[in-house]
Amino acid sequence: MRTIETLGDLRGKRVLVRSDFNVPIKDGEITDDGRIRAALPTLNKLVDEGARILVMAHMGRPKGEVKPEFSLKPVAARLAELIDAPVSLAEDTTGPSAHEAAEKIKDGEIVLLENVRFDPRETSKDDAEREAFAKEMAELADAFVSDGFGVVHRKQASVYDIAKLLPSAAGLLVVKEIESLSRVTGDPERPYAVVLGGSKVSDKLGVIENLLTKADMLLIGGGMSFTFLAAKGYEVGKSLLEEDQIDTVKEYIDEADKRGVKLVLPVDVVAAPEFKADAPATVVDADKMPADQMGLDIGPKSGELFAQTLAEAKTVAWNGPMGVFEFEAFAEGTRAVAQALSSGSMFSVVGGGDSAAAIRQLGFDESTFSHISTGGGASLELLEGKTLPGIAVLED
Ligand code: 3PG
Repeated sequence: MRTIETLGDLRGKRVLVRSDFNVPIKDGEITDDGRIRAALPTLNKLVDEGARILVMAHMGRPKGEVKPEFSLKPVAARLAELIDAPVSLAEDTTGPSAHEAAEKIKDGEIVLLENVRFDPRETSKDDAEREAFAKEMAELADAFVSDGFGVVHRKQASVYDIAKLLPSAAGLLVVKEIESLSRVTGDPERPYAVVLGGSKVSDKLGVIENLLTKADMLLIGGGMSFTFLAAKGYEVGKSLLEEDQIDTVKEYIDEADKRGVKLVLPVDVVAAPEFKADAPATVVDADKMPADQMGLDIGPKSGELFAQTLAEAKTVAWNGPMGVFEFEAFAEGTRAVAQALSSGSMFSVVGGGDSAAAIRQLGFDESTFSHISTGGGASLELLEGKTLPGIAVLED
C-alpha cells in the first residue's frame, strides 16, 4: 500500500483527505467522537508538513440530497476543538464554496468539505457518474490521502475513483487498521479466538464461514446467539431469532465440530419480558428460557466461561456486543468480554462500530486493547476475507 511519504514534499500543496466522520449524533450533539480522534494522526502530520488540507467525509445516508440534518457542521466544530489548526467548513463538496475555500486556504489549514453524499454521484453504481464527480474533486487538489477506513469497502467516488485521478496514498489510520486486521486474518498466533455478537446472524454469515477455517475457538453471544441456541433445539422465547437461518447455523455447528473448532455458546441468559432499560431482569439457563421472556444479554456464568476461554487465546478478534449494553441491566456480558481482553496479554482486535462504542461507553481504557477498529462493515468484510476496493486502489 502506498504511504503518505510516497507523495513527496507536501508543503503548500492542496491535499484531499477522505476521512470517516460518520459519528453518532443525538439532539445535535456528537455522542462518540472516536472516529474524529482516530483521524487526528494523519491530519496533524499533514498540518505539520504545511499541506493545505481539504477533508472529504460523509454523514449518514442522505441519498444524494442536501439534508441539513446530515450536515458535517457538528463534526467541523468538534474537529476544531481537537486539533491545533484552523478548521472551517465549506458549504458544498465541489461547488463554488469548496473552490473559494481551496483558493484561500493557507499552509497548515484545514477545510472540511460538506457531506460528499449530498451529491447522488458519490454513491452511484454508474462508473461514469462517479468518475465525473471524482474529476470535480480532483480539480481542487494536488494529491489524495485515503484515511476513512470505515468506508474503504465502498466503491464510491471519494474513496475509490478519486484515488485513480490524483497521486494517492493511504493515511496513517488506514495503514494501522490494515496492519492490525491482517494479524487476525492472515496467520494469527494460536490459539486464535473469535467472539461474535450483535443482533443478526445473517449479517455475519460470511465472517463465520471464513473464520471456521481459521479460528481455534468461536464464541457466540448477543442476539445472534439465539439462532444458535434454537439450532440446538432450545426454546428461545421472545428472543431475537432468524428462523430462516436455523438450517445454515446447524451446518456451522457440524462444521465446527468436524474441524475441531471449539464453539462456545451462552450457558445462561439475562432475560426480561420486554426490550426496555428498566424491564425486570432475571438470569435463566440457556436451555430453560421461558416462552414469555426475551434474552437481552449473556448471563454471568456465560460471561465467566467466555472470559476463561479468551484467557487461553494468544489472538482475539471481537465483533459485536454480547447484549443490549446501552441498558445498564444488560451490559454485564459485553463488560465481561471487554474486561477479559483489556486485562489479558493477547493480541486483541475489536471491530465493528458497536463493540468499539461499547468499550468507550463502559469506560474501558482504549489503550489496553491492541487495536480498536473504526470500521463496522469494513472490518467485517476484512474478516470475511474480501478484497476492499478502497484498499486495492492504493496498492502498487
Ligand atoms: C460506517 O458507519 O460503517 C461507515 O461510515 C460506512 O457507512 P455506510 O455503511 O453508510 O457506507
